[in-house]
Amino acid sequence: MLQTVYISTAQPKLPQAELRAVLDSSRRNNAAVGVTGLLVAGGRRFLQVLEGPDAAVEATLARIKVDPRHRAIVTLSRKDVDARQFGDWSMGFELGAAAGTADLKSVVDSLVSRLSDRNLAAQFQGFAEIHARAA
Ligand SMILES: Cc1cc2nc3c(=O)[nH]c(=O)nc-3n(C[C@H](O)[C@H](O)[C@H](O)COP(=O)(O)O)c2cc1C
Repeated sequence: MLQTVYISTAQPKLPQAELRAVLDSSRRNNAAVGVTGLLVAGGRRFLQVLEGPDAAVEATLARIKVDPRHRAIVTLSRKDVDARQFGDWSMGFELGAAAGTADLKSVVDSLVSRLSDRNLAAQFQGFAEIHARAA
């Protein structure tokens, strides 16, 4: 099973409704092909982990990479894993400072507290720390 993590930059002034649309299609498509993961939006940055059957993750990534709602996609990690970290989430989602919601860092801390992969947890916590107050 393939697990990949990337970071990207949202298109300027991406409307909240577009984020909703991304999440809706993610949950629908991912559930259909056995992809799970987590998407965190902090300021204008996205951090997403995708995991599942190799071909399904690759096909999902190929669509995501050409999505004009974000750019500058940088892969942070890409590896074979035996077990899922987000088995029960077709796409968990946390909206951060962009929406002026609760402190991104504490939200992400609680989200990743359940992960057995501590490196992955640290990646999300680092992201939250950097972007919690980003505009
Ligand atoms: C940051 C970001 C994350 C996304 N994550 C996913 C995802 O996990 N799964 C997915 O199918 N589409 C995801 N998308 C949307 C895809 O780029 C694409 O718009 C969508 O898969 C098209 O399918 P649809 O026609 O069913 O909406 C994401 C887009 C963005 C900007």
